Amino acid sequence: MQSFIRVDSNRFNTINTLGSLGILKPCFIYKFLRFTMPHKIFRTKSTAAIDIEDTGLKRCLSAWDLTFLGIGAIIGTGIFVLTGVAAATQAGPAVIVSFILAGLACGFAALAYAELAASVGGCGSAYGYSYVAFGELVAFMIGWDLLLEYSVAVATVANGWSGYFNNALTAIGLALPEALTKAPKLGGLINLPASGIILILMGLLITGTQHSAKTNTAMVFIKLLTIAVFIGVAIFHINPSNWQPFMPFGWFDTLPDGKTTGVLAGASLVFFAYVGFDAVSTAGEEAKNPQQDLPFGIVTSLAFCTVIYIIVSGLLTGVVPYSQLNVSSPVAHALQLLGINWASALVATGVIAGLTTVMLVLYYALTRILFAMARDGLLSPFFNQINPKTQTPTRVIVMCGIIMAVIAGLIPLGDLAELVNIGTLAAFVLVCLGVLFLRVSKPELPRPFKVPFGVTLPVLGMLSCTALMAFLPAITWLRFIIWLVIGLIVYFTYSIQHSSLNNEPK
Ligand code: ALA
Repeated sequence: MQSFIRVDSNRFNTINTLGSLGILKPCFIYKFLRFTMPHKIFRTKSTAAIDIEDTGLKRCLSAWDLTFLGIGAIIGTGIFVLTGVAAATQAGPAVIVSFILAGLACGFAALAYAELAASVGGCGSAYGYSYVAFGELVAFMIGWDLLLEYSVAVATVANGWSGYFNNALTAIGLALPEALTKAPKLGGLINLPASGIILILMGLLITGTQHSAKTNTAMVFIKLLTIAVFIGVAIFHINPSNWQPFMPFGWFDTLPDGKTTGVLAGASLVFFAYVGFDAVSTAGEEAKNPQQDLPFGIVTSLAFCTVIYIIVSGLLTGVVPYSQLNVSSPVAHALQLLGINWASALVATGVIAGLTTVMLVLYYALTRILFAMARDGLLSPFFNQINPKTQTPTRVIVMCGIIMAVIAGLIPLGDLAELVNIGTLAAFVLVCLGVLFLRVSKPELPRPFKVPFGVTLPVLGMLSCTALMAFLPAITWLRFIIWLVIGLIVYFTYSIQHSSLNNEPK
């Protein structure tokens, strides 16, 4: 860190010197550089400052609560929906390889998260770690990126949830009018169930973290039971000829319409299935014993889900031909094709519970990131309030809930899901880099959990996550860059002047 700060202040001095010599003074660049002042955009937060932050949030989550929080956020649309799409259109039976590759990249990142969660702490996740490692601007941008990741993810999953919910209502003869189940672009008025479920979760989160964690744990059990039923039934119906040809789309190809295909493109898509383990790290200030429990929660939940994904994707492509899996509910559909209707109905019900937990945990993570950024002065202090009765950041919860309910109700979010992936992958790359950076700049930092084998795994994490980003379509990159540019504008017009680090002695 020393050398990093030295470089910055040298740069700052150079700008001042050039300015005072009148070389840069008249021009806009000079004004811009003076205004942004490198010592501001690269100023870092100390871990001591994070340690003494008493947020008013209640420390009530155990190691297993955190693990269930992780499983709650991880298993959802990815395995219940995207496996089928990826198998049918991108990877064939080799979707299992896509899951293994995406799981490996996430494994490296999860270890990096675990090291930083134990040593840096706080509830800001990649945002908080970047503040300590890289300074304010990078931290803000990552926080901004996480706001996109979590809010779009919740709204996307709400759309998927609504599809299953409407099917269930139709099955019991209580179908909603079509205009109330579709976004305007798809010919409806509003997707009412998608908005409604977000507002219900908003109420749950306001009542308190402990209630939410209990509800989450109960629904995670239902979700796991559903998967157990699928595995128990499917294992007796495997037809090995369904695994041939194993890799019909090859490793990677770009189609004339810009879509990508192959096992690697499949890995970039099914990566969505792993999104969420990082949400565990946003619970740092509500964990009873964060230094031990966070690494445990992050690594255990991811390892467990990876094993589940490998088994489920292998079985799914083993019981029916992969070409028949491009449907909205491939797991239930496969059971239907096998003629086992009771299991299919059970799985569909379990999916409704499963997707609810994903939304709940990602919504929770979104509010904690926003809260952390507001507390640091980078976003309005309006969001930095804890309700003394429930000990939750009520204003943030309500504001996020209303915005996401509107988005989920009015916009069909299909391809925006890939935005979630690119945003998450960018955060993972920075977290891996943060581990390397802090090992050099702050070797003295206590590390109750340390990624094994030196720098190898964080480097592999950076490389593999960058590669997965590269396999995403160009339109996703464009949308991501637009979001980051908006973030830069917010940072330079508001955050830099209101950062709480402005109040620290120079
Ligand atoms: N991993 C979560 C899902 O698959 C976001 O729904």
